[in-house]
Amino acid sequence: MDSTVSEIAPDVYRISTFNPDFGIQFNQFIIKDDEPFLMHTGLRKMFPATLAAVASVIEPAKLRWIGFSHFESDECGALNEWLKVAPQAQALCSTVGAIVMVNDFADRPPRALADGEVLNIGARRLRFLFTPHVPHGWDAGLFFEEVNGLLLCSDLFFQPGNPEPLAGDEVLALAQDAIVQNLDGPLAKDMPYTPYTDDTLRRIAALRPRTLAVMHGSSFQGDGAVAIERLARFIKSTIGDRR
Ligand SMILES: [Fe+2]
Ligand SMILES: [Fe+2]
Repeated sequence: MDSTVSEIAPDVYRISTFNPDFGIQFNQFIIKDDEPFLMHTGLRKMFPATLAAVASVIEPAKLRWIGFSHFESDECGALNEWLKVAPQAQALCSTVGAIVMVNDFADRPPRALADGEVLNIGARRLRFLFTPHVPHGWDAGLFFEEVNGLLLCSDLFFQPGNPEPLAGDEVLALAQDAIVQNLDGPLAKDMPYTPYTDDTLRRIAALRPRTLAVMHGSSFQGDGAVAIERLARFIKSTIGDRR
């Protein structure tokens, strides 16, 4: 499997590996700064491909922070492999994620972030948002890079296939199609519609992101607030009102 590397915002690199077994891309994002940050480790079994692609952007041993949204193999399955090649690296996750999973799973202790906590990594600031069950998982969180207006939104805006690195409003249309396709598929019910779902989506829309770094599919460039509000309405009508 070959990975492609694209700069989707200043010093923000998207690493994309299409996995034909799944028919989807697994994307990671590197923010190059004094303390380099990697979002998503990639699957453990894809680590050699991910490592080679990261090495084309930064020296892997210099990696400082490893962020992810929730405890799943594509988010953090290769965490211990990364901790081995990067001696200064530390995982970042929610307090729930640390207590319930990562403290035990990771070979070195993670740093648990509180909701709203800001991490300065040099010229960039990363704000952590605790977003339980959005996109899914009790432990879920998202990161917002405030200088670029970049939301690292994990599985939100999932699109199948092997699309281009960066796109506009078509991302929303493809993501909506994917939600409908998934309703009766083997991975249905991935996003529970909870009493907090709509408020959480409105809260991240209010950040007014200009770029959405999407884990599976094209990243989005444009009015992120409008795109997330539309997605929120669509999720409410297709999942929330289906109960
Ligand atoms: Fe996920
Ligand atoms: Fe994912």
